[in-house]
Amino acid sequence: MSENTVAPISRKDLAALQLPVLEASTLPPDCYHSQAAYDAEVKHIFTKEWNCVGRVEDIPNPGDYFTKDIITEPVLVARDGDGVIRAMLNVCRHRGCKVVENAGTVKNFKCPYHGWLYALNGELRGAPEFKETVGFDKSTFGLKPVRCEIWEGFIFVNLDPEATSLADRFSEVSKFGFEAYEVGTHINIHRWRFELKCNWKTYVENYIEAYHVPWVHAETLGATAASLKKVIYHPDITEQQWDLILTPGPSMTLHPSHVPQFRQAEKVKQLPDKYRGLPVWAGYPGFAVIPMLDCTLWHTILPLGPDTMEIVVGIAFPPETGKAYLEGDEKVRELCDAYARNQEKIMGEDNDICERQQLGLKAQRAAPGRFCKHEILAWKFDNWVAKMAYDDQPQGGGAVQPARAAALNAR
Ligand code: FES
Ligand SMILES: [Fe+2]
Repeated sequence: MSENTVAPISRKDLAALQLPVLEASTLPPDCYHSQAAYDAEVKHIFTKEWNCVGRVEDIPNPGDYFTKDIITEPVLVARDGDGVIRAMLNVCRHRGCKVVENAGTVKNFKCPYHGWLYALNGELRGAPEFKETVGFDKSTFGLKPVRCEIWEGFIFVNLDPEATSLADRFSEVSKFGFEAYEVGTHINIHRWRFELKCNWKTYVENYIEAYHVPWVHAETLGATAASLKKVIYHPDITEQQWDLILTPGPSMTLHPSHVPQFRQAEKVKQLPDKYRGLPVWAGYPGFAVIPMLDCTLWHTILPLGPDTMEIVVGIAFPPETGKAYLEGDEKVRELCDAYARNQEKIMGEDNDICERQQLGLKAQRAAPGRFCKHEILAWKFDNWVAKMAYDDQPQGGGAVQPARAAALNAR
């Protein structure tokens, strides 16, 4: 690596990204498809940070479980006999076979290879034909625990045993009225998973700017979305790893009539004006929750490779609506399904534009672009990625800090 290179981008490109947003250049296109960028992000971000893997209502009863691969790391999330949700490495402690697949309900976990049996809490209960094995202590061969925390009904895991707690990373969202939306009580009804031919960062950048909305969502959101000028970006409200975008006003519903069909949380109406509207809370690296008038929309993103990613999108409804849906109430089902069909159109627009952007980013002569004032959070996020993943060889005075976001507000 040359002296002027900070894997996987040059020092010059990094310095250009770190300028104040209206003077900065975007990440070089290479960062959206090179193996070096991907490897650095997996190593420094996805195996170190909190990744959302589902909702608590996905595993309501003891013995319920689901599996999720965080890049190369197979993870098993289960509700144990005491009702506690735990995460474990889904890797048999005998000779490494993946223990279970998909999701289901079990009394214990049995490895299909040689029948090792694990309790719901991961303890090893049975290892056939191991009586003669010298010094073998079953109590030290349980499934390896993975850090797991619940936040507002979302289950997060972290592969780094030393990571700071998720609660500490999100604690300041309370100051901006997050709890008023009662997201933690909502029941998820619809869910989609897409594998897209684009880099994960393109999608995150997309949902933390409203600049694209009038063009990309002209058909679906054009009539109701507040004009671009009204959207407020809050780059400086916290040092924690999340950002807030707020479209002030009466917020929105996903029902295609634009009229909420279900109960709205009372406390939202009491929020100060500056926090009322349609918020997007984006937790780094790949989580976003958008509480709406009568439902919650959420996204989780993971890379699958340098230029492929998966996105899981869900819609959760207030508890009485969610229960009625699950009990088969025809009217509620019809209404909720209309929300889902509308959301399918909106996400189709985002999916298509991100894949189309990727095609351009892979061109040999593609070059860094510039940001406008509506892209301050994309700029901030790109700087976070660069600082976390690329700038691992600081020279001449340590790691370069991105310019203060406040620089924008001074203009
Ligand atoms: S690898 Fe699981 S029992 Fe052998
Ligand atoms: Fe969008």
